[in-house]
Amino acid sequence: MTTPLLEVTEVGKTYGSVIALREVSTVVNAGEVTCVLGDNGAGKSTLIKILAGLHQHDEGEFRIEGEPVRLGSPREALDRGIATVYQDLAVVPLMSVWRNFFLGSEPTKGFGPLRMLDRKQGREVTRKALAEMGIDLRDVEQPVGTLSGGERQCVAIARAVHFGAKVLILDEPTAALGVKQAGVVLKYVAQARDRGLGVVLITHNPHHAYPVGNRFLLLKRGRSLGCFEKADISLAELTRQMAGGAELEALEHELRGAVS
Ligand SMILES: Nc1ncnc2c1ncn2[C@@H]1O[C@H](COP(=O)(O)OP(=O)(O)OP(=O)(O)O)[C@@H](O)[C@H]1O
Ligand SMILES: [Mg+2]
Repeated sequence: MTTPLLEVTEVGKTYGSVIALREVSTVVNAGEVTCVLGDNGAGKSTLIKILAGLHQHDEGEFRIEGEPVRLGSPREALDRGIATVYQDLAVVPLMSVWRNFFLGSEPTKGFGPLRMLDRKQGREVTRKALAEMGIDLRDVEQPVGTLSGGERQCVAIARAVHFGAKVLILDEPTAALGVKQAGVVLKYVAQARDRGLGVVLITHNPHHAYPVGNRFLLLKRGRSLGCFEKADISLAELTRQMAGGAELEALEHELRGAVS
């Protein structure tokens, strides 16, 4: 068996007296998608903040390629190949697509005071990287603010792939998108996976998770309801678990009563 890219074992995190996460375990393998599902306040963001170096766990173990770690900063996570795309993407809306693509790692030419941004190369590399992911943008000079939410997510995914991320964490990338755009983003999630990245996909929506996921970590009020391999759980069961199982059935019953 190969060592997982990431592995958490019984991790826990408290904020003061609030237990945000308790005894949660899962793995992220190269070329696979681990989905994290749960309702509001389930602890999804807390878990990915630990993986992304924003917060530290105070119980359990977090391993990167077998080595126990406690990440001190997002920079440290990035240096270890963990790239995170947050829902409110850190983009500069008025800046062009290609400038955003390189944000912080611009290609330059010349030396010393003559060193300048190599615009031509920057545009070319961006266009190529996007095309490799099957993203066809007419003009990489256009401001990122003119792209749709789905297109922005796609650019962010292509960026992480281009800069050599091993693990790609996506926090609710499809939450604000329509059906068609969500489908497009999921297609690029699958592409990142097929290029050998380990993907962590956070979502509320089992219908988005199921087609691309290899395993599903279900969280509820900070606790794990289990981490299921795809072979061990059907979409119907995943949906039922997400909806609170028996609670939903009771609610359905109640609602039916209300309208009849
Ligand atoms: N910085 C913090 N300080 C105190 N409590 C926090 C903090 N961050 C999160 N929590 C609490 O921890 C619990 C889990 O929150 P978390 O943000 O991880 O949930 P989530 O699954 O991402 O929810 P959502 O779907 O609403 O984004 C919640 O009860 C939340 O109020
Ligand atoms: Mg969240």
